[in-house]
Amino acid sequence: MRDLVHIPVSEPRIGVPEMEAVMDALRSGWISSAGTYLTRFEQAWASYCDRAYGVAVSSGTAALELAIEALALEPGDEVIMPTFTIISCALAVVRAGATPVLVDADPSCWCMRADDVLARITPRTRAIMAVHIDGHPCDMEAIVSAAEQRGLSIVEDAAEAHGAECRMGGSDAAKWRRCGSFGAMSTFSFYANKLITSGEGGMVVTDDSVAAARLRSQRNLAFREDRRYLHTELGHQFRMTSLQAALALPQIDRIGELLERKRWIGSAYAERLASVSCLELPAPQPWARSSCWMYGVVLREDARVDVKELAARLAVRGVQTRPLFVGMHEQPALLERGYFAGERYPVAERLTRRGIHLPSGAGLTEIQLTRVCDVLEECLA
Ligand SMILES: Cc1ncc(COP(=O)(O)O)c(C=O)c1O
Repeated sequence: MRDLVHIPVSEPRIGVPEMEAVMDALRSGWISSAGTYLTRFEQAWASYCDRAYGVAVSSGTAALELAIEALALEPGDEVIMPTFTIISCALAVVRAGATPVLVDADPSCWCMRADDVLARITPRTRAIMAVHIDGHPCDMEAIVSAAEQRGLSIVEDAAEAHGAECRMGGSDAAKWRRCGSFGAMSTFSFYANKLITSGEGGMVVTDDSVAAARLRSQRNLAFREDRRYLHTELGHQFRMTSLQAALALPQIDRIGELLERKRWIGSAYAERLASVSCLELPAPQPWARSSCWMYGVVLREDARVDVKELAARLAVRGVQTRPLFVGMHEQPALLERGYFAGERYPVAERLTRRGIHLPSGAGLTEIQLTRVCDVLEECLA
C-alpha cells in the first residue's frame, strides 16, 4: 500500500553492509576525520574513477571550491561554465575572485555544448568547468580537445554522474572513459540523493600529487606540518568524518547494481512516456553512457497545465517531484553583484520554466514507476 501512497523523488538505499561499517567505525572510536575508513574510501573512489588521489570533503560544493581555488586564478581570469547548474559551480569561481562565463544548455541532454564553450574562449579564459547533468555526460572528447589546444585547465563536476561514461576516440575506435577521470581535477557530491552517498559529503579526485597534497591541507585549515596551529595559508574546515566514509565505502562494491537499476528507470520512463505528446523527453547522446541519476521531462508549449500546477497535482496524488535548476544568469544573488547583466540563455530558461524531475531513486519499483506515469498522464489530460 505504501507503494501507492507516497512515491519520493529519491531516497537513499542503506543496506546491512553500510550499517555494519558505520558500527565498526563507531566501535573503533575514530569518529572524526581520522581513521582508516576515510583513506579507504578516498582510495577506493579515486581508483573507481581511474585517478591516483582522492581528497574527501564535507560536500560537493566544498569540493568545487577547493578545486577552483587550486587553480590559483587571478581577478579577471575567466572560467567557462554552464548556466544550467547549481549555484555551487558559480560560487566556487566567484569566491576564487575570478569571473564565471556562461554557456547555454543543449536542448537534448541539458549539458553544456562544446561548440558554445569554444565560442566563449577569450584571452582571459583559464579554465572550463564541465558539469554533467542528471548523470548524462558532457561531450568530454570535444571539450578536452578544445582545452588542450588552448592550454586551459578542466575542472569536471561529476557530482551527478557517478559511474557515467564518455566515448573517446570517435565512433570507430570507441573507448569509454568514466566521468571523474577528465582534466586537472574532478569533483563529486555524496549527498543523500546521489548514487553513492555519505549523507553529506564530496571528493576531489586528481592524478596530480602536488595538487592532492594542497587540497588535503586546504580542507584541514592549512595546518603547517612542522608546527601545528601555525598557518602560512588560509584554509577551510571542509573535513569529511570517518563515519560518513564508512557509510559510503560499501556502496562502491555495488555501484554496478545501482547503475543498472538507474538505467532501467531511465529507459522505462523513456519508453512509457514516448507517446505522451505534450512531453519532451531528454535524448541521450551518442558519446554518452548516462548513469541516469535523475529522470526529467519538459512540458511542451501545447501542454494544458504549467509545471507548477503539474507538480501540485502530482503531489496531491502522492508523487513527489522537483523543479529543475534556475540558470546562473537568473540568480538575483549573482546579478546584484554585477554578473551576467542582460544575458539570456533560452534553452536553460525553458528548462527552468517547463522542466520537472520525476521520482528516480534506485529503490523505485516497477509498480511505482507505472503509477507515476499513469498519474502524470491523468494530470496532463
Ligand atoms: C551539478 C552539481 N554540482 C555540485 C553539487 C553540490 O553538491 P553538494 O550538495 O554535495 O554540496 C550538486 C548538488 O547536487 C550538483 O548537482
